[in-house]
Amino acid sequence: MKTIVLHGSPRKNGNSDTLARHFLQGLETNGSHEIKHFFANDLNIRPCQGCDSCADSLSGYCVIQDDMQEIYRSFIEAEIVVFATPMYWGYMTAQLKAVVDRMEAKDHWILGRRLACHHVPHG
Ligand SMILES: Cc1cc2nc3c(=O)[nH]c(=O)nc-3n(C[C@H](O)[C@H](O)[C@H](O)COP(=O)(O)O)c2cc1C
Repeated sequence: MKTIVLHGSPRKNGNSDTLARHFLQGLETNGSHEIKHFFANDLNIRPCQGCDSCADSLSGYCVIQDDMQEIYRSFIEAEIVVFATPMYWGYMTAQLKAVVDRMEAKDHWILGRRLACHHVPHG
């Protein structure tokens, strides 16, 4: 199954990455998966501008040409989408929030997907 992992932490191999790794190991025991990782902190992703171009055109793509375009392409093919993020002030990190906001262009795709969310709190 095609799986994408959206990593929210700026800390590589930190707690949320470790949790995601264990989750993926569990997945692999149920068959092989083609897994693609996106580390939001390493990507060039502009915040959503709220222009509604994606809704108006129904294109499913955002007009901003940045690394989000690659995430859209992988997201369309993915059957499982994993959100792996620490909790920052009670929510996902700003890096991952930017990705999720830009998913507005794909809100109709999110329905029917298998989503796995790992929020790692302190302690
Ligand atoms: C700016 C900032 C805000 C945080 N806010 C929270 C919070 O609201 N609740 C919480 O339980 N932990 C909070 N933490 C702690 C992290 O969620 C925690 O250390 C987490 O395990 C780090 O995950 P990582 O190793 O994947 O980066 C915060 C940490 C930082 C740096």
